[in-house]
Amino acid sequence: MADKARGTKISSETPMGPTGRPYQGFPTPPKLDSHGPARIIALCNQKGGVGKTTTTINLAASLAQYGRRVLAVDFDPQGALSAGLGIPTHDIPTIYDLLLDTKRDPHEVIVPTSVEGLDVIPANIDLSAAEVHLVNEVARETILARVLRKVSGEYDVILIDCQPSLGLLTVNALTASHGVLIPLECEFFALRGVALLIETIDKVRDRLNPSITLDGVLATMYDPRTLHSREVLERVVEAFGDDVLETVIGRTVKFPDASVSGVPITKFAPEHAAAQAYLRLARELVARGAVA
Ligand SMILES: Nc1ncnc2c1ncn2[C@@H]1O[C@H](COP(=O)(O)OP(=O)(O)OP(=O)(O)O)[C@@H](O)[C@H]1O
Ligand SMILES: [Mg+2]
Repeated sequence: MADKARGTKISSETPMGPTGRPYQGFPTPPKLDSHGPARIIALCNQKGGVGKTTTTINLAASLAQYGRRVLAVDFDPQGALSAGLGIPTHDIPTIYDLLLDTKRDPHEVIVPTSVEGLDVIPANIDLSAAEVHLVNEVARETILARVLRKVSGEYDVILIDCQPSLGLLTVNALTASHGVLIPLECEFFALRGVALLIETIDKVRDRLNPSITLDGVLATMYDPRTLHSREVLERVVEAFGDDVLETVIGRTVKFPDASVSGVPITKFAPEHAAAQAYLRLARELVARGAVA
């Protein structure tokens, strides 16, 4: 996309961002007059601990802060997204119940969060049985799509926090989504396995969801002080070019702290650089057209 279209003027004095492109602030997203239908985005990487859940929580909260109606779907039996948003997952209906009975009304399962405009479909360990239960279903890859279709008119964006695997649940998430966001941790093995992930996305595009797009690759846990982090980011940019989002999430202990307190970092420490980074990510995704 042309720099002009992103609304920030680039001059020769504009400093370089960490991805080697001129640093841009991205404009504040315009207010929406009406809501929906949602653009659905899966946060996906079969590698564990790369920042999928942290990104889902904080991107969702940032978009809500900009007046978007957001639904975050916990699609991992670990239930980390639900816990990170302060939702107790014991003895409540979850995404698992919606997958098993697609006639069930998702509104019975959706819970509001302490962030205005942000709702959640929670998950808990029950979801670990889903792959086994769904394997013999007709159109088993499209079950989540059918569930989300019922509520997508009420939201501007739906974010799906995938589990670290490329199994049937993740294929369901990719089949239900318009776009996919790949968080990559800035460490040595970051790119290992990404080829397989891209292959999976390509297969889903071929067979189940022809219009799915790669919305971006997000570098997380970046430490500008280490040569290692900078080199990994350079390699990620070499591999993915402009698909690498200009916003990069720095490494900071504020994230584990915020998770423990059950609120997004944008609420826990709104002035912290990490909160500002997720707000900027939200603005960048709106500027790129990935979100309304
Ligand atoms: N930018 C960051 N800086 C420091 N720690 C972070 C950052 N982002 C996430 N973390 C921490 O790293 C751990 C893994 O993050 P997260 O749970 O978001 O990854 P994930 O990809 O969802 O993991 P999983 O594959 O297990 O679902 C968490 O303890 C989280 O608090
Ligand atoms: Mg996770």
